[in-house]
Amino acid sequence: MIAWVPSELEWKLLLDLLEERFGLAFDGVRREFLASRLLPRVEALGLRALAEYHRYLLVHPERERELTQLRRVVTNNETYFFREPAQLTALADEVFLRHMRTHARPLRVLSAGCSSGEEAYSIAIMLARASAARGSLQGSFVVDGIDLNPARIEHAQLAAYDEPSLRACDTRTRQRYFAQVSAGRWELRARHRAGVRFLEANLAARTQEWNPELAGPYDAIFCRNVLIYFSERGLHRAVSRLLERMAPRGYLFLGHSESLVHRRRDVVPVRLGDVIVYAREEAA
Ligand SMILES: C[S@@+](CC[C@H](N)C(=O)[O-])C[C@H]1O[C@@H](n2cnc3c(N)ncnc32)[C@H](O)[C@@H]1O
Repeated sequence: MIAWVPSELEWKLLLDLLEERFGLAFDGVRREFLASRLLPRVEALGLRALAEYHRYLLVHPERERELTQLRRVVTNNETYFFREPAQLTALADEVFLRHMRTHARPLRVLSAGCSSGEEAYSIAIMLARASAARGSLQGSFVVDGIDLNPARIEHAQLAAYDEPSLRACDTRTRQRYFAQVSAGRWELRARHRAGVRFLEANLAARTQEWNPELAGPYDAIFCRNVLIYFSERGLHRAVSRLLERMAPRGYLFLGHSESLVHRRRDVVPVRLGDVIVYAREEAA
């Protein structure tokens, strides 16, 4: 067991690296969370101090492999099906309906920071329901889910969930969309996975590092409960990457505790059904 009392300088070096690489900030209790996640990594590599770990991440030949390990441990992946349902309804009833009337191509939606896929699948279910309810005006859609954490992406592709992920689903919803495979374990039915795909991606990456498969343009981008974990600089980088991929008349959906008001001049809040989302300044 190592003596775990990193100095402020050690912390600063590591926090700067995490901010630069992933856009993430760790203040207050978040630093305690980070310490508990980092200690096992430092020990697993046979290192004795945070400064040694920082140096490992900078110069060791295996540093990229360790940075991938870090992606698995530094993120908060809390999520569940049908979270903030008014936003899902606004997407289905406002954005998708208008899109079906005016476009022949599928609606493209990005779930950025999708964790284990609950958000992306909830979007697909709501869009499929809206399309079925419109009879002759049926439309199609694609949903891309992206996340920094490769373990969450693998989980999303499996589409098997435990009870906490279904906490907002009543009995009818569970029976309709899921098959129970064991006590407290549910699998999303195959037909609700259609049109949804998952890829690893880093919202803090430079624009030239972005996967060309994620070019969009996306008609709606969900980035909910992600930017709260970002530094101010990381937030601006991530929002710029997302706006580069958003359709000219697209919408950006953020979590309830996230706001771009007084932070960005290129987007403005607009009302969509019962919710506030962001649109390009010139499109509003
Ligand atoms: C709290 S979850 C939110 C999940 C979902 N959007 C929701 O609202 O339920 C935050 C997700 O953002 C992801 N994330 C954090 N930093 C990221 C980055 N730099 N690039 C992509 N995803 C990131 C985390 O891995 C995590 O799965």
